[in-house]
Amino acid sequence: MNENPLMPQVAEIIEIVPETEDGDVKTFVVENEGGFAYRPGQCAMLSVLGVGECMISISSNHIEGAPLEFSVQRVGRVTDALHDLEVGHRVGVRGPYGNAFPLDDWKGKNLLFIGGGIGLAPLRPVINRCLQRRDDFGEMQLIYGARSPGNLCFKRELYDNWAEDPDIDVALTVDEGDDDWDGAVALVPHYLEELAPASEDTVAITCGPPIMIRFTIEALKRLGFADDDIVTTLELKMQCGVGKCGRCNIGSKYVCVDGPVFTYEQLKSVPQEY
Ligand SMILES: Cc1cc2nc3c(=O)[nH]c(=O)nc-3n(C[C@H](O)[C@H](O)[C@H](O)COP(=O)(O)OP(=O)(O)OC[C@H]3O[C@@H](n4cnc5c(N)ncnc54)[C@H](O)[C@@H]3O)c2cc1C
Ligand code: FES
Repeated sequence: MNENPLMPQVAEIIEIVPETEDGDVKTFVVENEGGFAYRPGQCAMLSVLGVGECMISISSNHIEGAPLEFSVQRVGRVTDALHDLEVGHRVGVRGPYGNAFPLDDWKGKNLLFIGGGIGLAPLRPVINRCLQRRDDFGEMQLIYGARSPGNLCFKRELYDNWAEDPDIDVALTVDEGDDDWDGAVALVPHYLEELAPASEDTVAITCGPPIMIRFTIEALKRLGFADDDIVTTLELKMQCGVGKCGRCNIGSKYVCVDGPVFTYEQLKSVPQEY
């Protein structure tokens, strides 16, 4: 981390991986000279010179010296500008920010990851980290969905790495299939209830659009998951990333420093304004 946490490092884009068929999500692989130590679940502010900056989860695997990866959905001013960049262009990166996923608290438990759309970005490094520490955990399952087959992100993990790994069970669903799709067609929370994974000794970790998270938490409660065993991430609008500007507070908490990872038990005690 920089000595000044607000000072961006300059990073060069060395690869751009299209994630979705419509081109709305791309993974930017960047290299920065200063190095960047982070933990799964943390994020960073990415900036485009003359345009602005936005908070993005670090989606790369936690490998010493490996380039950073950011998977970005095009939704507005800064993300549009990022999508217009090419290999060789430079971006600013400051961070890492946030509290990361508490892997050590999950030792001995089964892990159920539930993602929707770009929500797989922060889950990808934590899933891979848990697979590296396989003996620390029980069963591992991922339930992941997107609007359409073409909108599923990280296809190399979904169809190769994880699909062929006996240590994790992957269940995919889409809101709307196509002629080639022979998998499940259901919204993520409905598919979760259909699969009805056992809640005993299991931590459910969910990340996705707010509406998906809301209905997923309701489904997990009906399946018997304890509030402490439901872990989610919050995506409030952010500016400083270091708990100074007050942009991202919910109740007494700042999502940029106390989060973005929270248990449902923690969220119950803050105003429901996220
Ligand atoms: C902790 C954290 C991690 C994130 N990780 C990722 C990631 O890995 N990949 C990714 O693509 N995006 C991620 N986001 C969301 C990303 O920060 C926003 O999409 C981005 O700031 C939009 O900037 P913009 O200038 O392109 O859009 P703007 O022009 O500012 O806004 C476009 C539209 O998006 C809405 N919007 C902007 N920011 C947010 C937000 N934070 N939450 C909900 N709606 C928003 C605006 O209200 C507006 O409707 C993350 C956000 C947070 C807080
Ligand atoms: S983004 Fe400034 S306080 Fe959280």
